[in-house]
Amino acid sequence: MTLTLPELPYAYDALGPYMSKETLEFHHDKHHKTYVDTANKLLEGSELEGKSLEEIVKASHGSNQPLFNNAAQHFNHLHFWNWLKPNGGGQPPAALAKKIDEDLGGYEKFKADFIQAGIGQFGSGWAWVAVKDGKLAIMKTPNGENPLVHGAKPILGVDVWEHSYYIDYRNRRPDYLKAFVENLINWEYVEKLYGEAK
Ligand SMILES: [Fe+2]
Repeated sequence: MTLTLPELPYAYDALGPYMSKETLEFHHDKHHKTYVDTANKLLEGSELEGKSLEEIVKASHGSNQPLFNNAAQHFNHLHFWNWLKPNGGGQPPAALAKKIDEDLGGYEKFKADFIQAGIGQFGSGWAWVAVKDGKLAIMKTPNGENPLVHGAKPILGVDVWEHSYYIDYRNRRPDYLKAFVENLINWEYVEKLYGEAK
């Protein structure tokens, strides 16, 4: 079983004006594809070949950095495409909103803290909402690292590598993060992952 690059779950121009067709073409067709191709090459003949993606990510962490980087980025991007949708963003569904109130201090505080995690991630990386020990937590990680290797399950993540926003926002990472939260988040997918993680 080799890793495969999925199609985007919407048209390349579906996320405008918040994320352009050009960004998605580069990000999905070039960057994500390279992670998949590289991970497959590194897996070939290795003891992790044929394992599930989560197992590959966790097992390669700390022991096989090149494989970890590419497999984790494949995992992150598989979800990232689904964390976006046309006309997304805004308020989360009721059950999730209640959990955000309990664990993250309400929607406005979640929004501010999540955006700040993305701004505060120096260089390339990700900002997350993850479930850890039954509670939601906001996290940030460098490069391809993700909450799986910190004993947590990610339910929302935003890519803050420059390849994710530089075509549309240049250096304005805060504007990209604001658009992500206000206009792009696919809360139904977040809720689905929350249901699986809790
Ligand atoms: Fe990316």
